[in-house]
Amino acid sequence: MSKVTVVGAGNVGATAANVMAVRGVADEVVMIDIKEGVSEGKAMDMMQTANLLDMNTRVIGVTNDYSKTADSDVVIITSGLPRKPGMTREELIGVNAGIVKQVTESVLAHSPNAVIICVSNPMDTMTYLIHRISGLPKNRIIGMGGALDSSRFKFYLSQALGANPNEVEGFVIGGHGDTTMIPMKRFAAYRGVPATTLLDEETMQKVVAITMVGGATLTKLLGTSAWYAPGAAAAEVAEAIIHDEKAMIPCSCLLEGEYGEKDLCIGVPAIIGKNGIERIIELDLNDEERVLFAKSAAAVHKTNEALPC
Ligand code: 2OP
Repeated sequence: MSKVTVVGAGNVGATAANVMAVRGVADEVVMIDIKEGVSEGKAMDMMQTANLLDMNTRVIGVTNDYSKTADSDVVIITSGLPRKPGMTREELIGVNAGIVKQVTESVLAHSPNAVIICVSNPMDTMTYLIHRISGLPKNRIIGMGGALDSSRFKFYLSQALGANPNEVEGFVIGGHGDTTMIPMKRFAAYRGVPATTLLDEETMQKVVAITMVGGATLTKLLGTSAWYAPGAAAAEVAEAIIHDEKAMIPCSCLLEGEYGEKDLCIGVPAIIGKNGIERIIELDLNDEERVLFAKSAAAVHKTNEALPC
């Protein structure tokens, strides 16, 4: 039996659970939250769509009882405060570090073999924190930011190209921050045709710019962080693990010399399968990309320094 736990049944957690249930990613999805009744209610609501959506996953909601999460193959951590308009992801560090630490210890007590997917912000730093406190092998801790940012990049590319988003390729590396992410123009493509040959430089720069503030734009519109794409991105990573897809997904990975960096988690393309991060793909960055990546890594290191634990 395959089992995924989602910690935090807020908008992002519940969306991840719902996407996984509807897509049949796992046999069982457990949502756990500190707010009495919320995960139970959302799980019941999802189960009432089973017949409508031909859904075979069992969704369970629990309050605080980590014993119900036991033996999960994958745990998605979404706990913590979301962004408010005008706030950076980095400003959440103090509160969210304490929450993520406590949640990590609780889930590992019951699922010592799980692969952990971190969604909580600031995502790269929270992923790094999980490494520091858990001592798990590096393949078993994945930050999902690159999956989300890449999906946003592909969407904005598809709009600029007038294309179906499913026919567009593209990915984002670097930190999951408004000024640190690096949409990789050079590899963007429409059915294999380089997007740089189809879009002029000014349009491409606009696509890059709106991708970078994709999360902030939504926070301004919604009054809180986005959830459909973040939840679906976490579900995509979980699916790659549960189904051993060997999918190439840009994720926040612990670097130990790759890309000339070490002792931080940052977005790079990785092969995701049943063991979590099975391989990091080391791209041959050009000069411009290398400078951007070094800047991004410096910013992530700086945020990591603010970790209280
Ligand atoms: C976002 O970019 C919540 O960080 C997340 O929408």
